[in-house]
Amino acid sequence: MESYLFPENFIWSTATAAHQVEGNNTNNDIWLLEQVEHSMFKEPSLDACDHFHRYPDDIKLLADLGFNSYRFSIEWARVEPVEGQFSAAAINHYRRMLEACHEHGLKPFVTFHHFSSPQWLLQQGGWESAATSALFARYCGRIARDLGHLIGGGCTINEVNIGRVLISSGMMPPMTKIRQSPGWIEASAQLGITPNELNPFMFAVSEQGRAVVMAAHHQAVAAIRASGSTFPVGATLAVQDIVSVAGGEAIAAQHRQAVNEAYLTDLVGDDFVGVQCYTRHRYDASGPMPPEAGIELTQMSYEFWPEALESAIRQAYATSGLPIMVTENGLATTDDRRRIAYVERALHGVKNCLEDGIPVMGYTYWSALDNFEWMLGYTPTFGLIAVDRQTQARTVKDSAVWLGSVARSNTLR
Ligand code: BGC
Repeated sequence: MESYLFPENFIWSTATAAHQVEGNNTNNDIWLLEQVEHSMFKEPSLDACDHFHRYPDDIKLLADLGFNSYRFSIEWARVEPVEGQFSAAAINHYRRMLEACHEHGLKPFVTFHHFSSPQWLLQQGGWESAATSALFARYCGRIARDLGHLIGGGCTINEVNIGRVLISSGMMPPMTKIRQSPGWIEASAQLGITPNELNPFMFAVSEQGRAVVMAAHHQAVAAIRASGSTFPVGATLAVQDIVSVAGGEAIAAQHRQAVNEAYLTDLVGDDFVGVQCYTRHRYDASGPMPPEAGIELTQMSYEFWPEALESAIRQAYATSGLPIMVTENGLATTDDRRRIAYVERALHGVKNCLEDGIPVMGYTYWSALDNFEWMLGYTPTFGLIAVDRQTQARTVKDSAVWLGSVARSNTLR
């Protein structure tokens, strides 16, 4: 193959999320759900990757590898530990992270909400309560006012559609079942609310939940812009590459509408859309199908299907008309050679899109570090950099060196 030079200023990034890497985020809802006796989480996050303290070395390492950007999230529960009371120390922590990125030549992409929320928000109805959108926008406005001059790009909410995606793909049981599970009942009791009143972000799957999340996004964009910040801002979506098989056309179209299009058409006025994609999803006449026999599976039991990214970018652009930033793509594997093979194929898809004139701003690999994969704990390893759970020692994988050199040369060979 001929080598391909990416556009000038193409963003080469890798991502983390606060709760998955910082450690000891004791004031948010996910920590609570991890810590209850009958938790639905495989294990608690605890120290995670201690990125809260080790970010200077981690950021330097990413720059040394060749990346020109780093996407990370700010933890709302640290910045606003009590409703309406903002922690200057927490804001200064994120200021130092942003400054470290600049010092090393990394454009910081900041996510304002990546799945976890302060426990106080949950006591007030969480992501099914209409009041949440204004509370979220107030927090975003505060961050933008204090730190906006250091932010290179902003993602308001990570995967605005995640609840719908998890339910419709069958990866999560119906909410009626979840609300009756012992861990859920224990967590609600600790917050002093009923199981029906407990509405963490990932579980806000009703029509009301969708409306609250999208209102929160729109109000956050407005608050960020009102702060005088000029960085580009958008939401990210888990864009599903939904394909139909044998009579599944109608149901596939229905799911595409519910999980992708309903959101992509609701981003008018944003500066970009963050596309996140990991695999394809096949639907037949009865709904989602299991992986196709004979296809390699990742640690997540997803089909190894890097071409899904190209389809996701094309759909996101066709439906939203917005510039595309790939804010997540990657795979969980113990075989790092397969990571290189996957990313290489995914990047071919990005190249095809660019050659067709689709404005793709950049590519972000998920994740920089092996980290806390939510309910699955530390078993799936998505990272370019391995983390020893006991010593916190970092080990750079071959894929990190490979992708870093693609980034540095801005060329796919
Ligand atoms: C999320 C990440 C997660 C990754 C891999 C995305 O849906 O934004 O937090 O770790 O997928 O499953």
